Amino acid sequence: SAAEKGGYDYFMLKEIAEQPHAVAETLLGRLNEHGDLLLDEVRLSDQDLRDVDKVFIVACGTAYHSGMVAKYAIEHWTRIPCEVELASEFRYRDPVLDRSTLVVAISQSGETMDTLMALRHAKEQKARVLAICNTNGSTIPRESDAVLYTHAGPEIAVASTKAFLTQLVACYLVGLHLAQVRGVKYADEVAAVVAQLQEMPKKVEQVLSTMEPIRELARELAEAKSVLFIGRHVSYPVALEGALKLKELAYMHAEGFAAGELKHGPIALIDKGTPVVCVVPSPRGRGVLHDKVVSNIQEVRARGARTIVIAEEGDTAVAPYADHLFYVPVTPTLLAPLVTTVPLQVLACEIAAARGHDVDQPRNLAKSVTVE
Ligand code: G6P
Repeated sequence: SAAEKGGYDYFMLKEIAEQPHAVAETLLGRLNEHGDLLLDEVRLSDQDLRDVDKVFIVACGTAYHSGMVAKYAIEHWTRIPCEVELASEFRYRDPVLDRSTLVVAISQSGETMDTLMALRHAKEQKARVLAICNTNGSTIPRESDAVLYTHAGPEIAVASTKAFLTQLVACYLVGLHLAQVRGVKYADEVAAVVAQLQEMPKKVEQVLSTMEPIRELARELAEAKSVLFIGRHVSYPVALEGALKLKELAYMHAEGFAAGELKHGPIALIDKGTPVVCVVPSPRGRGVLHDKVVSNIQEVRARGARTIVIAEEGDTAVAPYADHLFYVPVTPTLLAPLVTTVPLQVLACEIAAARGHDVDQPRNLAKSVTVE
């Protein structure tokens, strides 16, 4: 009913709007006034966590994209090698696992069979399993050694939005916690990130207040044949997530690429007018990355692409190459997916609505897939 949707046309729009609150809920009670991380649902001892010499993240769909972001953060902050793998591939590959391996299973529903089977395989091999999950008491957390709930509240729309943002937050918390327990190389950076995480609900809110131009663009793109998404570093999984949302909801061909891979093949797809959504890293911090993406944007534009650019406020260098430019608030590089994903969610939702699709119940998809 309309009341259940809180006045929004779709659950998805309601859940997109709930993201600032959801992100705050994931953070709630997990950072004390000194900035220490309190992960009391983590029932692994600090010694267990110090013994970890390898992290595997397993997940499906949107949750897998949050895991891809987590890999960048966990490796950077902890210096522990971290792999992320589709749950449906994991056990069939016969991965090398033992009791010093930490397997992080990410799942909104906690019931995804592929992820559950990956988790069971990991446990058989004596690995420790930590679940990041949104559904209290579901199977995946029940079978895990430790759980970090995302507390996003029930997600009704099939396409995941607030669960994704809160999975990102939970992954950051796991990375920061591991870093703290093990003694941190980048202590100042970790302390800064802890502080900056607290700012994220406000920044997500800021993004949401500037979505009107995205809605207008969505109406223009409703007839596009194909939409490409590019990004580097943590913006690469954001590009994949943007493309997945568009496939799921609008039934359009959409593909995400690592911007650096364009020249190795995908650039052949660019034709006159092909929409390319470009997720640009911050020009501060890892500035090289930014400049590389700007050249990638120039490259696709020179071949006729219509560039839709998501960049950080104040990034004027990219403006000359953007047919459409959307700014997001200034954010530390690793946390940027929390803001850059939001316009892509809105874009997919609005394109699907413009095409007349049922945004909340896309064809052929289920919210929770309990078969392998
Ligand atoms: C299904 C849903 C996706 C979701 C994936 C993983 O395919 O349609 O939106 O990302 O499962 O779900 P999970 O509950 O494990 O996060």
